[in-house]
Amino acid sequence: MRALTYQGAKDVRVETVPDPVITANDDIVLRVTATAICGSDLHIYRGKIPGMKDGDILGHEFMGVVEDAGPGVNGLQRGDRVVVPFVIACGSCFYCDKTLFAACENTNTGRGAILNKKNATPGAGLFGYSHLYGGYAGGQAEYVRVPRANVGPLKIPEGLNDEQVLFLSDILPTGYQAAVNAQVGPGACVAIFGAGPVGLMSALCARFLGAQQIFMVDHNEYRLRFAAETYGVIPINFDKDEDPAEIILGATNGHGVDATIDAVGFEAKGSALETALTAIKLEGSSGKALRQCIAATRRGGVVSVPGVYAGFIHGFLFGDAFDKGLTFKMGQTHAQKFMPELLQHIAEGRMKPEVIISHRMKLEDAARGYEIFEQRQEECRKVVLTP
Ligand SMILES: NC(=O)c1ccc[n+]([C@@H]2O[C@H](COP(=O)([O-])OP(=O)(O)OC[C@H]3O[C@@H](n4cnc5c(N)ncnc54)[C@H](O)[C@@H]3O)[C@@H](O)[C@H]2O)c1
Ligand SMILES: [Zn+2]
Ligand SMILES: [Zn+2]
Repeated sequence: MRALTYQGAKDVRVETVPDPVITANDDIVLRVTATAICGSDLHIYRGKIPGMKDGDILGHEFMGVVEDAGPGVNGLQRGDRVVVPFVIACGSCFYCDKTLFAACENTNTGRGAILNKKNATPGAGLFGYSHLYGGYAGGQAEYVRVPRANVGPLKIPEGLNDEQVLFLSDILPTGYQAAVNAQVGPGACVAIFGAGPVGLMSALCARFLGAQQIFMVDHNEYRLRFAAETYGVIPINFDKDEDPAEIILGATNGHGVDATIDAVGFEAKGSALETALTAIKLEGSSGKALRQCIAATRRGGVVSVPGVYAGFIHGFLFGDAFDKGLTFKMGQTHAQKFMPELLQHIAEGRMKPEVIISHRMKLEDAARGYEIFEQRQEECRKVVLTP
C-alpha cells in the first residue's frame, strides 16, 4: 500500500510499504477514505518528538471502511463506515473505567523503557505518534490496522459525508474537552490562544456551550479573520499588539476572562531568549502562551490547556497562579468519551466542524500538504487527504 512515512525532520515521503494485517482478535483493518494533518503532526515534522524511527507511518486523524475484522470484534463488520479516535484504549483498565481513555494502561507498554523511568505510568498509545506512544502505524495511508476495535471506532450513519465527521477523530473532541475543562457556560467570557484547527474547534465549542465573548490571539491574520467571521471572536494579533493579556484585561474592567484556552503548546512563538534556551535544551518548552493565559485569566478562573507540552518550563509564574486562585486543566483528549454526543450534534446540524477545511489533496501529495500547513502558505487552516 501507499503511506506517508517519516524520514527525519522536514522529510516525509509517500512510499510503498507492506499492507497491514490483523494481529489480535479485536483488530480491524480499515481502508482509509479520508485523513487529516494535525498541528501535533507538525511537532513530529519539525523533529521535536523523540522516539521516531525512519519509515514510521504518520497520521492519527482518519476514517474509512472496515476491510477485515478479527474474530473478537463485536458490532463491526466488513463494509461498515467508521471514524477512529487518535487514542488507543482498552476500555476496561483502572483509567478507562473512569473514562480517562488517554491514560489507558494497556496500550502503551514501551514508554517506561524509552524514558528510562522504572515506574512511569504509560499513558495510552496513539496512532502514528512515535514509539513513545506505542509505535503504532498511523492512518495517513491507504490502509491501517486499528487495535482495540471494540473501544475506539464509531459507526457513522448514512447521510453524513466524510468531511462532516472526520474531525471526530481528534480536533473536535479536543476543542470540546478544552471548552468543558474551561467550564464554559452561558454568558462566559473566554480567551483562546492559537487560531489553528484546535483553537478554531475550541471557539466552535465555546460558542456551542454559550460563551458570550471570545477573544482570540494569534499572529496569522488570515486565521484570525476566519475566526472572527465564523465564530464572532474578537481578534488580537500579537505581532501588532505585543501584550495580548494587557488588551484582554483592558477590555474586561481589569478582571480578565473567566477562562483561557492555550491551543498553542510548547512551540509557542516566544522571546528570542526563550527560543535560544529551548534550542540548547536549557528550557524544555516555550512558556509564552501559558504565561499570557495566566495573566489574562480573572481571579478564580480556569486555564485549560489542550496544546501539547513536553518537559520543563522555568518561566512559569506559579506565584501568580496561586495568588489568583486559578484552576488548571490539561492533557490529551479522552476522545472516546465525547465522540457519540458530538456525532449527534453534527447529525442534527448543530456543529459544522468541516467549515475550517482549506485544502483537499491526494495522499500522494501529502508531503506538500505538510509543507503548506507548516509554513502557513496559501492561507492554510486544515488539510484533508484522500488516498
Ligand atoms: N490535547 C490533545 O489531545 C491535542 C489534540 C490535537 C492537537 N493538540 C495540540 O494543540 C496544539 C494546536 O494544534 P493546531 O492543530 O491548532 O496547530 P497549529 O500549529 O496549526 O496552530 C497553532 C497556532 O498557534 C499560533 N501561535 C504560535 N505562538 C503563539 C503565541 N505565542 N500566542 C498565540 N498563538 C500562537 C500559531 O500562529 C498557529 O496559528 C498543538 O500543540 C497540538 O499538538 C493537542
Ligand atoms: Zn491531532
Ligand atoms: Zn484502558
